[in-house]
Amino acid sequence: MTEKYEIAAFSEYSNEIKNILINLTNKKSVKSKYIIENILNGKTSKALNDHVSLQYRKSNGIFFTGTQLSEKVADKIKPLLNNGISVIDPACGAGNLLLSCLNHLPKKNTLLETLEYWSNIVYGNDLFNEFINTAKLRFILHVINCYPDDKIPFINIDRYFHNLKVQNSLKIKNSNIEDACVVINPPFGYTKSNQNCNWTGGKFQIAGLFIEKIINAAYEGQNIVAILPDVLRSGSRYKKWRDFVCKNSKYLDIETCGKFDNNADVDVFILHIIKSLSPGEVSFKKNQISKNTISIHFNICVGPVVPHRDPESGPMCKYIHAKNAPANQIINEINEKKRYSGRTFKSPFLTIHRTSSPSDKQRCKVTVINVKGIIAVENHLIVLKPKDNSLETCKKFQKILSLHNTTKWLNEEIRCRHLTVSSIKNLPV
Ligand SMILES: C[S@@+](CC[C@H](N)C(=O)[O-])C[C@H]1O[C@@H](n2cnc3c(N)ncnc32)[C@H](O)[C@@H]1O
Repeated sequence: MTEKYEIAAFSEYSNEIKNILINLTNKKSVKSKYIIENILNGKTSKALNDHVSLQYRKSNGIFFTGTQLSEKVADKIKPLLNNGISVIDPACGAGNLLLSCLNHLPKKNTLLETLEYWSNIVYGNDLFNEFINTAKLRFILHVINCYPDDKIPFINIDRYFHNLKVQNSLKIKNSNIEDACVVINPPFGYTKSNQNCNWTGGKFQIAGLFIEKIINAAYEGQNIVAILPDVLRSGSRYKKWRDFVCKNSKYLDIETCGKFDNNADVDVFILHIIKSLSPGEVSFKKNQISKNTISIHFNICVGPVVPHRDPESGPMCKYIHAKNAPANQIINEINEKKRYSGRTFKSPFLTIHRTSSPSDKQRCKVTVINVKGIIAVENHLIVLKPKDNSLETCKKFQKILSLHNTTKWLNEEIRCRHLTVSSIKNLPV
């Protein structure tokens, strides 16, 4: 299906809302409360799922934000919203995040006055006209819903929420609004980093680029609240990005929120920062940084063998990988062998499976390796070589790493579907 057709199909839904809105004129909104609330809540996400394929939504990061997450975002800036601050969402989709913010904005005496007032303080951008139109109509319905006993006057739909625009927020020079709070759930997806990306070689999370752009354009003291994929909080390759965020913030708060929703199997967190060029003592770490970490006792690295890449040459070694390193066992024998010319290990040591999810009962699947000879280790395992070379140390730490408290600590530290060397190194013991 072509791109245009995919999103254009969604305009059927915005036309449906438009007709509902037109038919409301002269009625009392309380009579249509159920229909309006459906449009403001789950129905719009369902319409997206019905009209736009999962594959297209995934490859373009188009997932409307759930009500609970949206409300959490709005709660972070509630006192400011109560005071009538302007608010902008640079990737507003059908407007769920902004809708949650509207709940906290002050109202005027009449429906039309509130429409006028909010139209001047609510801003949003999206790539797609269909979403912008839907967001505007939903905001009008939200205002109608705030006046349940009023007869609904004729509403000139084109007049309101004119600050919602079809714009590419990554390309326009500056879409920032002075004195506005920024709320955003940017698209999650990867882009090849190029000269526009200072952070890393290879692919980079688009959500990180949105935040970079917003921070660079932000004013001193501006509040920015964003729903972001956990990899930005915990992935080692995003350290420079995190340093950049910290360098530009006098306040930084993190709330981990678990899975985004049932369609997008990605863990998210809410980042709330206040921009400043004179940063405070802020950090992304939720866990206390301990002085006594496991890295005092072990040298830790990723297993170096990449089977599909490395040539079968060099000395014959015993070979261990995720499938022949069962959790919570002590291995005294390895039957598999391979030729390998890279770095190998001698027992005793521990391995931990890198693949690991916050939903696992035990995040560290640890094996003690106590086998004679040189051992090649595949790169789905992390290797922990005891500095005292003792089997007893390995056994002791196998127990510690399997404890519930370790799982709990790691779940705070890293919610991606794999463990990193740095998350293990920082584990307090
Ligand atoms: C995760 S969704 C946000 C949904 C929104 N918070 C809601 O609940 O409806 C990301 C949105 O960003 C939009 N988007 C993607 N790239 C964009 C860009 N460069 N500029 C503006 N919007 C963009 C997508 O069309 C999509 O609607």
